[in-house]
Amino acid sequence: MQKIIRVLDTTLRDGEQTPGVHLDIHEKVCIAQGLEALGVATIEAGFPASSPGDAAAVRAIAKVVRKTEVAALSRCVGRDIDVAGKALRDASCPVMHLVIGTSDIHMEHKLGMSRAKLVDTIAESVRHARRWTDTVQFSLEDATRSDPIFLRQCAQTAVEAGATRINIADTVGCMMPDAFGPMIFDMNQFLGPDIVVSAHCHNDMGLATANALAAVKAGARQIECTINGIGERAGNTALEEIAVILALKGVGETGIRLDQLCALSARVAEMTNVAVQPNRAIVGANAFTHSSGIHQDGILKAAENYQFVAPELVGKAGHDFVLTARSGRNAVTHVARSRGHVISEVDQDRIYAEFVRFADTVPGAVDGDDLDAIVGRVIGKAPVLAT
Ligand code: KIV
Ligand code: ZN
Repeated sequence: MQKIIRVLDTTLRDGEQTPGVHLDIHEKVCIAQGLEALGVATIEAGFPASSPGDAAAVRAIAKVVRKTEVAALSRCVGRDIDVAGKALRDASCPVMHLVIGTSDIHMEHKLGMSRAKLVDTIAESVRHARRWTDTVQFSLEDATRSDPIFLRQCAQTAVEAGATRINIADTVGCMMPDAFGPMIFDMNQFLGPDIVVSAHCHNDMGLATANALAAVKAGARQIECTINGIGERAGNTALEEIAVILALKGVGETGIRLDQLCALSARVAEMTNVAVQPNRAIVGANAFTHSSGIHQDGILKAAENYQFVAPELVGKAGHDFVLTARSGRNAVTHVARSRGHVISEVDQDRIYAEFVRFADTVPGAVDGDDLDAIVGRVIGKAPVLAT
């Protein structure tokens, strides 16, 4: 049996911390509904104490999302916890998510707290949060730069005060998978099977997804991620990447409806105004687009020649071809035929020769209208089907 891996989506919280992004309440509710349909275990809806607008958005999401957990982030500050608790009041499955920095860097330069004071604050805050919800997740911020012995003490304190999930945050994205895995393994062993160990990875060195994967392999039972990998600075683990990896590589079962990934990615890109990089895995415009003649010919013979991830699996209608001077004869004929041209075997070479001559003169791809004109010039007929 495959391991069950919980997906906590933080598009609406860490994702909204993407520089320049602001979602209004309607957009947040719309994305939350998409996340519920996608099958995430928990939707982190926001950080209510950060603004009245965010508190209102968390409240609105808590009202409409009925089957999925809704989490709200809070600092370890009594009044913030109360604002988060109130925002979650209507949630059917509320989760209070508390966070505090545990590294010496954070304690000294940000919080101005001693280790002893930090431990007391953790205990007091978790107990306070438990007055609002039974499910409290505690995040050890900057865990990956914290003293491992002290990190254990912080986690144990949170658990003894009533937290059931401990989130290990690679806040500055400084980890390598071969170090992150053992760190998660240790924490898992230390806390035992009743506590869910979670991983929250940032992408500062492009390793967020690799680190999340290492965490799952080492025993993490929850991963935190965002649609399109958006988030603070270089972003977070991309939900679409880790969900597809875990499914296709048989590492774990997330319950994510993979066939909804591309549509939700597009919705998030449109609402956040953060375009998806074309070569991005799974959801990029080029992820299933084949360009070279050798690849196009291979795809026409059998898609698995050049596709490991099937486009249909993630909600794409199919693969695409882009026609450039690197394209081959078979692809040019295939695209022309799919545009309604009737092309005999003997015309193929002439059309292809004319196509290459033209393609060498244009800076980008040859579009459909240009291809129609080329075919028309060579065989003197218009396509028989409208496309
Ligand atoms: O990056 C981080 O440490 C966070 C925490 C709130 C989990 O986003
Ligand atoms: Zn983060």
